[in-house]
Amino acid sequence: SIEKTLRPQVLAQYIGQDRVKNELAVYIAAAQKRDESLDHVLLYGPPGLGKTTLAMVIANELQVQIRTTSGPAIERPGDLVALLNELQPGDVLFIDEIHRLPKVVEELLYSAMEDFYIDIVVGQGPTAHPVHFPLPPFTLIGATTRAGLLSAPLRDRFGIVEHMAYYDEADLVDIVERSADVFNMAIVQEGAHEIARRSRGTPRIANRLLKRIRDYAQVANQAAIDQAIADHALSQLQVDNRGLDSIDRKILEMMIDYYHGGPVGLKTIAANIGEENETIEAVYEPYLLQIGFLKRTPRGRVVTPAGYEHLGIPYSEN
Ligand code: ADE
Repeated sequence: SIEKTLRPQVLAQYIGQDRVKNELAVYIAAAQKRDESLDHVLLYGPPGLGKTTLAMVIANELQVQIRTTSGPAIERPGDLVALLNELQPGDVLFIDEIHRLPKVVEELLYSAMEDFYIDIVVGQGPTAHPVHFPLPPFTLIGATTRAGLLSAPLRDRFGIVEHMAYYDEADLVDIVERSADVFNMAIVQEGAHEIARRSRGTPRIANRLLKRIRDYAQVANQAAIDQAIADHALSQLQVDNRGLDSIDRKILEMMIDYYHGGPVGLKTIAANIGEENETIEAVYEPYLLQIGFLKRTPRGRVVTPAGYEHLGIPYSEN
């Protein structure tokens, strides 16, 4: 039997993302029947939705080893060669933040992915010579926040492209109950719902909040997490009733206070909040768009009437 750990180990333990799971189950079974490596997989979507976990699950289902790295960690072609060199036939190479690979490294991946070889130049000056490296068949799993961040040549070399969507409340309830069980912590249904409702559709956030609420319950000598202790802890953590944190609210408030609710350009938002453009775009904005508090227009981002209402600020059309 499979040990129950916080990260699910097999598809059957992985909650939610049903469309992605069903497709992958077919491709994994087909590759196994043909005794071939699984085609390369690109997973894209906001942070915290389980892309790394899913890569590990895929490797586990394939019964192969997984090597894990990230775009920024592979600085030079030699770094990639070292990783590829360790692969056994059928293994998975997982590259997180694959959109941040240096161009010279990315270009090496093209032949590696397509025909399982790389050509590199070894040595310098007069001793420099080309070397042809055959590779075992392998599966590259790339993860990124948006597929559009990848160059077309790289994106086109992934035979399987899967979008990871925000989890609905029912799935998050299941995840929170499962995680509480892993922590040996009792939780009542209303407690799990409270956390699920305030986790921004994101298991990583749900699990983080669960850990903090567990601390509050522990200190209060409360045997089980109920709605009251969840609500109390989440208030202390400044997570509001829709799951927005202080930065989410700061974005909306700043747009309203300084720009009459917009339109405001991404760079202006990032500069005012003191975050990278990429962080605003990949981490904060997607959920605000999803719940309809923010809208994208050709001239920039706009706070919606629902966004005003959430903050308790009267809406006025620009
Ligand atoms: N923990 C975090 N994400 C999960 C998921 N999708 N399924 C089960 N447990 C999880």
